[in-house]
Amino acid sequence: MSNFQIKGLANYKSTYQKSVDDPKAFWDAVAAENFVWQKKWDKTLSWDFEKPEVKWFEGAKLNITENCIDRHLETRGDKTAILFEPNDPNEKALHISYNELSDRVNRFANVLKSNGIAKGDRVCIYLPMIPELAVAVLACARIGAIHSVVFAGFSSTALATRINDSDCKMVITSDGSFRGDKTIDLKSIVDDALLDCPVVATVLVAKRIGSNIQMKDGRDKWLQPELDAASPICPPEVMDAEDPLFILYTSGSTGMPKGMVHTTAGYMVYTAYTFSNVFQYQEEDVYWCTADIGWITGHSYIVYGPLANGATTVMFEGTPSYPDCGRFWQIVEKHKVNQFYTAPTAIRALAKESLSNVSGHDLSSLKVLGTVGEPINEEAWHWYDEYIGKQNCPIVDTWWQTETGGILISPIPNATKTKPTYATLPLPGIQPALFDENGVELNGNNQEGRLCIKHPWPSMARTIWGNHNRYRETYFSAFPGTYFTGDGALRDEDGLYRITGRVDDVIIVSGHNLGTAPIEDAINEHLFVAESAIVGYPHEIKGSALYGYVTLKDTVGDMSEEELKTEINALIAKLIGPIAKLDKIQFTNGLPKTRSGKIMRRILRKIACGEMDNLGDISTLLNPEVVESIKESALV
Ligand code: WT7
Repeated sequence: MSNFQIKGLANYKSTYQKSVDDPKAFWDAVAAENFVWQKKWDKTLSWDFEKPEVKWFEGAKLNITENCIDRHLETRGDKTAILFEPNDPNEKALHISYNELSDRVNRFANVLKSNGIAKGDRVCIYLPMIPELAVAVLACARIGAIHSVVFAGFSSTALATRINDSDCKMVITSDGSFRGDKTIDLKSIVDDALLDCPVVATVLVAKRIGSNIQMKDGRDKWLQPELDAASPICPPEVMDAEDPLFILYTSGSTGMPKGMVHTTAGYMVYTAYTFSNVFQYQEEDVYWCTADIGWITGHSYIVYGPLANGATTVMFEGTPSYPDCGRFWQIVEKHKVNQFYTAPTAIRALAKESLSNVSGHDLSSLKVLGTVGEPINEEAWHWYDEYIGKQNCPIVDTWWQTETGGILISPIPNATKTKPTYATLPLPGIQPALFDENGVELNGNNQEGRLCIKHPWPSMARTIWGNHNRYRETYFSAFPGTYFTGDGALRDEDGLYRITGRVDDVIIVSGHNLGTAPIEDAINEHLFVAESAIVGYPHEIKGSALYGYVTLKDTVGDMSEEELKTEINALIAKLIGPIAKLDKIQFTNGLPKTRSGKIMRRILRKIACGEMDNLGDISTLLNPEVVESIKESALV
């Protein structure tokens, strides 16, 4: 096990200080002492935030799967690596040992090879939360193929966009998935997507629900017979430190989703380091993160971080409310979970239900509780602390992003203190800073501004796939010389950070990052829609919900407003996914615009939040009169 785990406040302080005084020496030691390398690096770090270009551990050779699997076989071969808990509580859980994981990953890696996948090729993975998902990810890494996992809740259009953006040669999917009492027909979604994806030559299909699906001759293959026929030995590909490990798409405020590129060595070092420290994982612990591997949280803190530490990591296929709202707590009890990591939206949803869902379960195994994805409100924080942690488990409110690869700001249990709604302090190696709108750094405490990071850390995304310019524009142009996160934050009198939310047009709904522009584009495709604008408003469970202002064309045939609303949401579900459907739709005669024709979302946001009397100066608008009529028929 690693020797980089911080113990206590004094240790945190001295470690943090070292990491800031000499970042290279700090990461040099962490990397050298805790991982297996085929060759050590020549240079720990080179960076230039203007270009921008960041390289960690240049010259090193490694394979991340040797660190996540092979090196554990001698000492932990029989230890459970992945503990799979199925959707249906009556189906048996599966304990996959490190030995078995090795067998599965090696076979799968050979199947990829025999189907023409080589180092550097992109492979799209569109799977539910079943073991094959984690195994497919690791199999790609084993042979140096770049995985692009697409969350299996995205629509066929969204899937096709992502497949084509990175020219994936293969798609790995399943016949279908279980979700609560429903099944979802994943394979037909893939079939629809592939009508527009000329580069995909092979589709590997895992069997999960046993449905009767179409297999396309020469393209589609059942996975299991391929695995059975494959050798269980596949030597790890020798990778350079900066070879891409994966691409993961995240929404931007405008345009196409951004394919964030993460590279091998830095990502491995940072996710392993932060997993160990933030969760204070001990050898016998059972760790459970409820995220989906389709998001960065699952990549870093279900798969890579835990496995690099030789941990037991739970993979849960189902939902928090099936068969009832006690499901999470039943699983905690059943598997004696020690660290539990979930999203505020799940906490809020469960806190609304009867406490009897919780009280029937023995939660005494829990040691650390985590939250991620959006700001956690005070009420949810206290409910989590009191009813789940029994005021005996530190809550780690972990702030980070798809782009950051790993957790940047979070308490460390039993070292740094927690404070409701605060992500608190930067982890070692992280140098946050706040800037005002004019780009002036706000020094000292009691400040609120835009959150930036001044020095590179090992797991930061290196580029946007195929669009380095956009990478520079999005993250390195607003505050030159620093990485801009897109979030606002405040620093209290003790220097603790509280994330206040996005300062751009990204809205976080139930922890899902949604850009407004792609949703508006989807709505505008409707034959009768002239224009639309989406804003977020506070929602009790989801954190933020979506409010759409839609201006119709003159001709809408004989459609009623209700029919139009249904069609608009169906269109969004088709083009993006059900997660982006609007909670409220208001039809308007126009949208407030500046004289240069830009929609004034600030005003629309206030109206959606019910702050009608506080719209500020609207006299400079091109069409101030439309504001009055929008206010009158607002849905608040
Ligand atoms: C955005 C990134 C990181 C994994 C899941 C989301 C928001 C994330 C917190 C937190 C307040 C948070 C930020 C960030 N966010 N964690 N603990 N407190 N806000 O990844 O989809 O890339 O979204 O999520 O606004 O920028 P993502």
